[in-house]
Amino acid sequence: MDYPTLKIVHLVGLVLVFMGLAGVLASKASTDVPFKKRWLFHLSHGVGLLLIICSGFALAYQLGVREVVPGWLKGKMVIWLLAGGSMVLATRFSRFAGSLLIFFALLVLAAAWLAIEKPF
Ligand code: HEM
Repeated sequence: MDYPTLKIVHLVGLVLVFMGLAGVLASKASTDVPFKKRWLFHLSHGVGLLLIICSGFALAYQLGVREVVPGWLKGKMVIWLLAGGSMVLATRFSRFAGSLLIFFALLVLAAAWLAIEKPF
């Protein structure tokens, strides 16, 4: 896959992940919607995580990353883990919906900053 296409897949993945998180958060915050009615958001989150990690490593490979993984990429891996674990937060702590939305936005901001600035 060429570089621009991988970037599109990466961005679609990130949108799916955060749509999934926001969807679960909204359905838990309004009324406790049963899993049967919110599984699509869990699927969106899972597929998105898969797209992000696959396209992320493919992009890194095309940027010339081999044995030595730069700090900014390690940072993005941590953010990916946090985005994965965030489903637990969205499911269990929907009473803090406002704070969680800010936290999710900060994850995207940090990931984008690391990719674009590559500060370390
Ligand atoms: C939730 C987690 C992540 C988010 C929100 C995210 C978000 C982003 C964004 C917004 C960009 C910038 C795209 C652009 O230049 O227009 C990007 C690029 C990139 N990301 Fe991620 N990313 C995540 C996880 C990862 C992971 C896990 C990896 C690799 C293991 C990765 C590797 C990359 C690479 C290599 C680039 C391209 C940098 C460049 O073109 O110079 N990302 N990501």
